Amino acid sequence: MKTVLITGCSSGFGLEIARYFLDRDWRVIATMRTPREDVLPRSDRLSILALDVKDPQSIRAVIDAAGRIDVLVNNAGIGFLNALEGTPMDTVRDIFETNTLGTIAMAQAVLPQFRERREGVIINVTSTVTCRPLHLLSVYTASKSAVNAFSESLALELEQFNVRVRVVLPGRAPSTRFGENARARMKDGFPEPYDPLAQQIFAKWEKETAVTHASDVAEAVWLAATDSSSPFNIPAGEDAVEWYHARAR
Ligand SMILES: NC(=O)c1ccc[n+]([C@@H]2O[C@H](COP(=O)([O-])OP(=O)(O)OC[C@H]3O[C@@H](n4cnc5c(N)ncnc54)[C@H](OP(=O)(O)O)[C@@H]3O)[C@@H](O)[C@H]2O)c1
Repeated sequence: MKTVLITGCSSGFGLEIARYFLDRDWRVIATMRTPREDVLPRSDRLSILALDVKDPQSIRAVIDAAGRIDVLVNNAGIGFLNALEGTPMDTVRDIFETNTLGTIAMAQAVLPQFRERREGVIINVTSTVTCRPLHLLSVYTASKSAVNAFSESLALELEQFNVRVRVVLPGRAPSTRFGENARARMKDGFPEPYDPLAQQIFAKWEKETAVTHASDVAEAVWLAATDSSSPFNIPAGEDAVEWYHARAR
C-alpha cells in the first residue's frame, strides 16, 4: 500500500487531497498545524500528525513518525494581497518562510529515503498567478515562482535516483479558507494611494466566472502521484487551464 504525506490538511485543497487518496485505498498522513480528528473520515489507513512547515523540529518529528513515504504533497501555504508599500517585511518573511522555505525544507527531509529506495514523488502546489503578473500580488507571486524554479532544477538532479518532481498550479478558488486567511493578514488595509486600484481589481475579479474547485486540485495531484508520464506542470481548475495555456502561447 502506498503512502502520501500532505501538508496543510486542516482545510481547502489539503483536506480534499487527503479525502481523495483515502478513497483510493492509499495510506494517508494528513498533517495540520493543529491536528483535528473530526475533519476526515475515520480509517485505519489515516494518520493525523502535527506539522508546522516553518518549524524544523516539527518537520523532523513528523518524518520520524511517518515511516515510509511514497509521495510528498507540499500544499501548505498562505496568501496575501496588497501593494508592496502596504506589506510589512515581517509579512514578507512569513510568506516566504511558509510557501517557499517550508516547501524546500519538506523536500529536503523526505529525500534521503526517496534516494535510498530509488523512488518517490514530490508534488509542489504553487499557483497560476505565476503564469502572468497581477496587481497587488508581488510578494505572494514571488514566493510561488521561487517554488516553480526550485522544482525545475530539483527535478533534474533527482532524475538519476528515479525520484519525480511535479508542480500543480491551481487557479482562484474562492471556496477554500485561503481568502479569509489572507484577509486576516491584511488587517491594515491598502495604503490610500493604492485604494482606487484595489477597488478596480476586486470589481474585475467579481465578474470572473471560471474558478478552481478543491476537487480539481485533488485530481491533478492524483495524476502527478500516479502517472509517471504526467506533465511536469499540471494546471488545476478551469481558470487555471486557460491561464496556463495563454502563457504558453
Ligand atoms: N485558494 C486559492 O485561490 C489558491 C489558488 C492557488 C494556489 N493556492 C495554494 O494552494 C494551497 C492550499 O490553499 P487553500 O486554498 O486550500 O487554502 P486554505 O484553506 O487556507 O489552506 C491552507 C492550509 O495551509 C496550512 N498552513 C498555513 N501555514 C502553515 C504552516 N506554517 N505549516 C503547516 N501548514 C500551514 C493551513 O493550516 P492552518 O489551518 O493551521 O492555518 C491550511 O491547512 C496553498 O499553498 C495556496 O497558496 C490557493
